[in-house]
Amino acid sequence: MTRPYPPRIKIVEVGPRDGLQNEARPIPAAQKIAFIDALSAAGFAEIEATSFVAPGRIPQLADAEEVMAGIHRRPGVVYSALVPNEKGLERALAARIDQANVFTAASETFNQRNIRASIAESIERFRPVVISARAAGLRVRAYVSTAFVCPYEGTIEPAAVTDVVARLLDLGVDEISIGDTIGAAVPSQIEAVLDALDGRLPLGQTALHLHDTRGTALANVLTGLRRGVAIYDTSSGGLGGCPYAPGAAGNLATEDLLYLLDGLGLETGIESSGVRRASDVIEGALGNALPSKVRRAGPAPSGERKETDRE
Ligand code: HMG
Ligand code: MG
Repeated sequence: MTRPYPPRIKIVEVGPRDGLQNEARPIPAAQKIAFIDALSAAGFAEIEATSFVAPGRIPQLADAEEVMAGIHRRPGVVYSALVPNEKGLERALAARIDQANVFTAASETFNQRNIRASIAESIERFRPVVISARAAGLRVRAYVSTAFVCPYEGTIEPAAVTDVVARLLDLGVDEISIGDTIGAAVPSQIEAVLDALDGRLPLGQTALHLHDTRGTALANVLTGLRRGVAIYDTSSGGLGGCPYAPGAAGNLATEDLLYLLDGLGLETGIESSGVRRASDVIEGALGNALPSKVRRAGPAPSGERKETDRE
């Protein structure tokens, strides 16, 4: 159903986790900490800071404890992390995360490759995680990966998404982020899934997690906005990918989303100059240019430029 745009949008910054989990070059914990601190200074209310998964599977984030211990915690900011199982939650609670993010998929093959479990097994694995996280006073977010297209199975039917969403809601998660893991979806697919979820997943609990591999992420955001979705996941500079999703490029760049939302007059509470500084920090650590289009092009002309100025 088409709705008015939500007036206020929450951008969840996932660069320190989704972005850095895919970088071949090892980034020292001190630089990750500087990146996260620059992000909290930019005004994000929620930052996915790291991942408490098996370190052998994602060595890039094996320093999760060190990162969480080193960040300057800005009051009011939710610092979340990926948590795949009870062992991960134990580590995450000791590291004082504010929110646990569990993750499963709408495609069986992707889920097996990513977390070595069927969808049903992953839900059972999360049951004690959600109970303990809630008992510890944490919010719980869940991801549904490959909600539109799977690198192994191709197009995913919306019914597969509604089925896993129902099981996650039954577990008692607070929010569900619907993922275009390999950045292959187009607006008609976003519409089909959001329409299938209408009446089953409240808009206040719905997020979209869009990778921008094929340049369709902003068109997909607009489709989400028209259907009232107010929470979007992005990475500063467009960092990112998933090592178990061949072909996945970075998340939608925070700068690119912010440019669109600012232009549409939708509030985010995030300073674009602050995002630029955060991207500077991580670009300096990586040593290669980040893909965000807005970062490269800069802000739109203000009209103050004289005709005699030259390019
Ligand atoms: P498993 O592979 O089935 O193996 O784990 P296991 O349970 O037998 O454990 C293997 C070893 O890891 C054991 O150690 C465990 O103790 C240890 P060993 O006995 O060999 O010494 N272990 C752990 N150590 C520390 N912390 C833990 C932990 N768990 C086990 N939490 C598991 C299953 C899910 C843990 C594993 O497969 C895993 O960590 N996978 C990581 C997958 C991942 O992080 N993928 C990328 C993130 S998902 C994503 O990017 C998509 C998303 O962005 C949304 C989208 O774009 O759609 C979220
Ligand atoms: Mg992702």
